[in-house]
Amino acid sequence: MLKYFLTRLIHLFFIILILKCLTLILPYFLIRCYSQAASILLCFVIAKFTFRYTKKFFLSKKVFPKRKAILITGCARGFGKHIAKHLDSKGFHVFASCLNPNSSGADDLRNSCSSRLQILQLDVTKDESVEKAVQYVKANLGSCELWAVINNAGIQKGFLTELTRIQDFEDTMEVNAFGQVRVTKAFLPLLRRSRGRVINMASLGGRLAGPMAAAYTMSKFASVGFSGSLRHELHLWGIRVISIEPEFFETVFYRTDMSTGKNLSMRVEDAFVSADENVRKDYGEEFLRKFKTVIGRAYPPSPNMHKLLENIEKAVTLKNPDAVYKAYGNVLNEFILRFCEACPVECQVFIVNTYFRILGLPKPEKANKIYENYHCH
Ligand SMILES: NC(=O)c1ccc[n+]([C@@H]2O[C@H](COP(=O)([O-])OP(=O)(O)OC[C@H]3O[C@@H](n4cnc5c(N)ncnc54)[C@H](OP(=O)(O)O)[C@@H]3O)[C@@H](O)[C@H]2O)c1
Repeated sequence: MLKYFLTRLIHLFFIILILKCLTLILPYFLIRCYSQAASILLCFVIAKFTFRYTKKFFLSKKVFPKRKAILITGCARGFGKHIAKHLDSKGFHVFASCLNPNSSGADDLRNSCSSRLQILQLDVTKDESVEKAVQYVKANLGSCELWAVINNAGIQKGFLTELTRIQDFEDTMEVNAFGQVRVTKAFLPLLRRSRGRVINMASLGGRLAGPMAAAYTMSKFASVGFSGSLRHELHLWGIRVISIEPEFFETVFYRTDMSTGKNLSMRVEDAFVSADENVRKDYGEEFLRKFKTVIGRAYPPSPNMHKLLENIEKAVTLKNPDAVYKAYGNVLNEFILRFCEACPVECQVFIVNTYFRILGLPKPEKANKIYENYHCH
C-alpha cells in the first residue's frame, strides 16, 4: 500500500515537472493559452468552494410555512425528533410518524410541540402501515398541502462483514433503503399536487465508504443512488429530491440498539460469539478485545446538532434548495472528510488503516502469520 501511495506521489511530481518544463520550451503564444487555462481552472476551484456565500444573497428566498404539511419518519428520537420539533417551531404542520406512537419520545413530542403537530404510527418496512399513514395524512391535511416527506427512519446493524449476519444486511437495507422507496412511492401522488419535495436522509457514509459498517454503508449508497435517479424523474413534475448527507452527530444511533437495549461493546461480543468458528479463530480474542474499545472511539460524534437542523431547514424552506446537503459538525471535520472524499480510493484505504492503527486496532494474529508464511515461500 505504501508503495502504491509513493508511486502516486512520484507520478504527481513528474506531472508538475513536465508542466514546468513545457512553460520553458513552448512558444510564447502557447504559454499564454496555457496560463489562461490554468487561471480558468483555478477560478472554477475557488468558485466551487465559495459558492455558498454568493448563494446566501441570491438564492435565499423561502417558502411560507402557512398551510404546508411535512411528513417525517422515525420521530421518536434522534434526528427525527429534533427535526419535528424544529419544523413545528417554524410554523409547519408536522406529521411526526413513529414506529411506536406510545413511546416516551412520542409523548415528549406531544407535550413540547404545538397543536399543529400530529403523531401517527408508521413502520417503513410494512406496506399496510405505509398505506394507513397515507390515509391518515389525507384525512387530516385539512386546508394544508403535503409539502415535504422527510425519509429519516434508519437503523445500523453489524460491524466487520465477517462478523455480520446476512439477516443484519437485509434488515438494514429494508429500513434504510427500501423503506425510503416504499414511503416515497406512497406519498408521491400528494407531493405532485403541491410540487413539493422528497428529502432523503442518507449519510456521509453514502459516498465515503467507511470500514466496520458494510451493511449500513451499502444502504446509504443505495439511498444516495435512489435520490439521484428519482431527482431526474421528478423534475418533470417540479418536485425536488434532496439528499441529506451528515457526518456523525450525537444520538443513541450506532451506540445502542434500542430494540435490544445493547450497547456497542455487547453487540460486538454477540456478533463474535455467533460468527463462524474459523472466523473467530482467525481474528482471535486479542483482536476482539481491542476492537471493542477502538470501535467506540472510531467515529467521534459531533454535539452540534444545529448544523444538521440548519441544512434540513434549507432543504424544506428554500425556494431553490441544493440537491445535496452535507452536514458537518465543525470546520476541521469538514476539511478532513472532504479531503478524504477527494482522495483516490487507494489513498483512502491507506488513510483509514493508518487511522485505525493509531487508535490501537491490532492486526489479527493470524493475519501476521499468513503474511510471514506468504513471504517465506
Ligand atoms: N446519528 C448520526 O450520526 C447519523 C449520521 C448520518 C446519517 N444518519 C441517519 O439519520 C437517520 C436518523 O438517525 P438517528 O441518529 O436519529 O437514529 P436513531 O436515534 O436510532 O433514530 C432512528 C429512528 O428511526 C426509527 N425507526 C427504526 N426502524 C424503523 C422502521 N422500521 N419504521 C419507522 N421508523 C423506524 C426509530 O424508531 P424507534 O425509536 O421506535 O426504534 C427511531 O425513531 C437515519 O437514517 C441515520 O442513518 C444518522
